[in-house]
Amino acid sequence: MGKNEVASRLSAPVFMFEKLGSDSTFAGVKENLKNYLISKNMLSKRSLVGIRLSFQTLAVLLFMLIGVSAYAADPAVASSDEAIAAGKTVFNANCKQCHKLDQKSVGPALRGATDRQSADKVKSFIKNSTAVIASGDAYAVALFKEYNLQMPSHEFLSDDDLNNLLSYIEHGDKVDPAAAAAVTAGGEAGAATGGGIPSEYLTVILGVLVLVLVLILVVLGLIISVLTKYINKQDLPEDDKEFVSQKTDYGKIFKSDGFIIVVTALVIALVAKTALDGLYSVGVQQGYAPAQPIAFSHALHAGDKEIACQYCHTGVEIGRSANIPSPNICMNCHTHIQNVGGKEGVSPEIAKIYAAVENNQPIEWVRVHNLPDLAYFNHSQHVAVGGIECQTCHGPIQEMEVVKQHSALTMGWCIDCHRQTEIATEGNAYYDKLVQLHSDSKDALKVKDIGGLECAKCHY
Ligand code: HEC
Ligand code: HEC
Ligand code: HEC
Ligand code: HEC
Ligand code: HEC
Ligand code: HEC
Repeated sequence: MGKNEVASRLSAPVFMFEKLGSDSTFAGVKENLKNYLISKNMLSKRSLVGIRLSFQTLAVLLFMLIGVSAYAADPAVASSDEAIAAGKTVFNANCKQCHKLDQKSVGPALRGATDRQSADKVKSFIKNSTAVIASGDAYAVALFKEYNLQMPSHEFLSDDDLNNLLSYIEHGDKVDPAAAAAVTAGGEAGAATGGGIPSEYLTVILGVLVLVLVLILVVLGLIISVLTKYINKQDLPEDDKEFVSQKTDYGKIFKSDGFIIVVTALVIALVAKTALDGLYSVGVQQGYAPAQPIAFSHALHAGDKEIACQYCHTGVEIGRSANIPSPNICMNCHTHIQNVGGKEGVSPEIAKIYAAVENNQPIEWVRVHNLPDLAYFNHSQHVAVGGIECQTCHGPIQEMEVVKQHSALTMGWCIDCHRQTEIATEGNAYYDKLVQLHSDSKDALKVKDIGGLECAKCHY
């Protein structure tokens, strides 16, 4: 440290004291001194805190590492690819509607089950959880208390099935957390850009614009009044003064021809637009979202709990109609789930399901999508053969509390898609011949090329 520097460091606090008011307390002095030193880069704010922070970070990282390595699956569970693949098939057929591997769903996340209990115990729980719970096994009883839903028994599963299941549960579909995060981030960004500006934002933007306009008007008004005042103070000829302070004659404006013409034109345009909109929407029910007899939420069931659409809409892949589930399908789960979040008693909405089952009466859901009788639409043709996602036609159902008709469902809508959509011919023997015949054409095979525009295909 050079001599001058020392001097300046010493003089700095002195300078500080000079600047402080006589009534400042000692704490205030200390604080000001510190701030001054920091501002002159003489004391780093981070120098001490920084060390403590990095120690904490290291400790946390260490614990995380230990945690990960301690969380290794039971070595008794096979990790061969065949076992995992076979297990996945059994899982998808029997368990998927209630379980995910790494996330809580209707039932607990399954990975690590063989760490929490022995493999044999897990197997007997899968086979017949009711018996295990009835036997008083503390772990099983606690689990049941938490989820309040008895898992169906799976006595039909063979020992091989069970072993494969465990392999899949412990080793299957492992996600690299970094990659998963990248995928979700990418997906969200894609969704945000792909969807255009959502209508809520438009409303906000419009609101802001109106606000800005009003502000501009206010400012203009202020400027005018200031200017008027200023001019009035000047020495002006009488004529000019009169001009400056004259009041606007609104009555005259309202009576003028120009004003009447403009207003009439506006009114006519407005009436015409309303009438046209009305005409257009005859028979078009886009956006229709009627209240339903039970507050059934797709956002909860298909979104949060990720129950597959096909679990309830059993017809989509096999027939014309998707089917609305009968109360019996609800009862697969709601015999046991009687309320949300483990609350006591039966939720009034779920009580309605019980009433329907007891009285053997269907729940009278209000139909949302409805084509006129003259048109024929077949779900399996589009979902199973065409490979089209439900969301392409029905929108983000898994986010809807109340189902809303997303598409126009007009003839133009059907035909537009048939003109544009290529047929998923790959792996479909039925189309091989067609593709061959079509191969000299440059365009890809579209739905229109297989008769998707013929009147008789859609009209009886
Ligand atoms: C109808 C929903 C449902 C189905 C289907 C289902 N489970 Fe479960 N499972 C649960 C619930 C709920 C629990 C929590 C325990 C309880 O409440 O009995 C559970 C618990 C478990 C547990 C214990 C988890 C732990 O943390 O120790 C295992 C293992 C398990 N299930 C495996 C399976 C397998 C394998 C299948 C398919 C063959 C399956 N489950 C099918 C609902 C289901
Ligand atoms: C747990 C059962 C269940 C699941 C899972 C489910 N739905 Fe539904 N869905 C229903 C019920 C019940 C109705 C009738 C009540 C209503 O409209 O909300 C319905 C209605 C609909 C309708 C409107 C039917 C009409 O009246 O025109 C569409 C479209 C639909 N679901 C699509 C889907 C899609 C797509 C998924 C998967 C992302 C899905 N559903 C998952 C039970 C289910
Ligand atoms: C595969 C299992 C499953 C099926 C099938 C199922 N649900 Fe559910 N349902 C759930 C779960 C899980 C919850 C949420 C419980 C919680 O939050 O604790 C729930 C919650 C509800 C709620 C909310 C209750 C409240 O008070 O807010 C209603 C209503 C409901 N379901 C109606 C239905 C209807 C109607 C059907 C049949 C069309 C059905 N569910 C089919 C699993 C299912
Ligand atoms: C190509 C467009 C398209 C796709 C893809 C599609 N739907 Fe539909 N869906 C429709 C049309 C159109 C109707 C109205 C049918 C009618 O009124 O005859 C409908 C009606 C429904 C209904 C009311 C009941 C019925 O069968 O009429 C449900 C439920 C439904 N769809 C569920 C689904 C589910 C679940 C999927 C995905 C597995 C799906 N849809 C895929 C166009 C589609
Ligand atoms: C999102 C795109 C899409 C929409 C919307 C759509 N379709 Fe299709 N449609 C397809 C595809 C793809 C196929 C071809 C499926 C296949 O591979 O056979 C198809 C096939 C058909 C076929 C069979 C054609 C044939 O020659 O075999 C009929 C009938 C049909 N659609 C009716 C309709 C009706 C009615 C509507 C409107 C209510 C509709 N589609 C809306 C995509 C769509
Ligand atoms: C891809 C399927 C499809 C094809 C191909 C198709 N239509 Fe349609 N058509 C529909 C649907 C769906 C409706 C019902 C639309 C609605 O309710 O708004 C409809 C409605 C109609 C209507 C009644 C209009 C109304 O306002 O009620 C007429 C007429 C009609 N179509 C004639 C034809 C003729 C003629 C052809 C052949 C050139 C044809 N359609 C081809 C799907 C189709």
